[in-house]
Amino acid sequence: MEDLSLHILDIAENATNAGATLVEIFIREDTGKNLLEIVIRDNGSGMNQQMLERVRDPFVTTRKTRRLGLGLPLLEQATREAGGNLTIASEPDRGTEVTATFRANHIDRKPLGDMGSTMISLIVGSPEVDFVYESDLDGEKTRLDTREIRAEMGSATAINDPALLQLIRNLFKKDQQN
Ligand SMILES: Nc1ncnc2c1ncn2[C@@H]1O[C@H](COP(=O)(O)OP(=O)(O)OP(=O)(O)O)[C@@H](O)[C@H]1O
Ligand SMILES: [Mg+2]
Repeated sequence: MEDLSLHILDIAENATNAGATLVEIFIREDTGKNLLEIVIRDNGSGMNQQMLERVRDPFVTTRKTRRLGLGLPLLEQATREAGGNLTIASEPDRGTEVTATFRANHIDRKPLGDMGSTMISLIVGSPEVDFVYESDLDGEKTRLDTREIRAEMGSATAINDPALLQLIRNLFKKDQQN
C-alpha cells in the first residue's frame, strides 16, 4: 500500500465491521517534534484480551472469506519502517482504539495520501455510521463530523447524497499533498 490513507481505510473498515456506530479518526503531524500520529477509535464490539494479543499476527482473522487478516499487520509494518509503532487498546462491548506513530521525516514514511477519498469511501460504504475526522498537520486543520452534517441537512438529504459528498471532498483539498 502506497499511502497511509489506504491503511486508515482498512482500519476504519475493521471498526464498521465490528458494528461501530461512531468511528473517529485523528491525525496530527508535528514536524518540530518529527512526529506523525494517527488514532482510529470506534465504539464497536471490541476485542477480548486473548484476541488483542494475537491480532498483529497476519494469520489471525475473524473473516469468513479468507484466512489472512492483514489490516493491522500491514499498518504495524508501515509504522516500524518509519521509526514508529502501533498500539491497540480494546475492551469488549466498549470499542477499540488503534494508534499508529511515525517519524514524520523518516525516508520510509509513507505519505498520508488522499484522506478525502478514504472518508468518502467510508461514508458511502456505511451511511448508517457516523464518522469524525480531525487533522492538524503542522497547524493546518481539517474537521468533519457527519453528526453535525446530518443535523444541519435534516432528514431530507441522505449523508451519501452526491452533492453533499462533493462538499465533503472539498474540505480535504489541502490535505492531499502530505
Ligand atoms: N476495531 C476492531 N474492533 C473489533 N475487532 C477488530 C477490530 N479491528 C480488528 N479486529 C479483529 O482483528 C482481526 C484482524 O484484523 P485485520 O484488519 O488485521 O484483518 P481482517 O480485517 O481480518 O482482514 P483484512 O484487513 O485483511 O481484510 C479482525 O478479523 C477482527 O476480528
Ligand atoms: Mg481489516
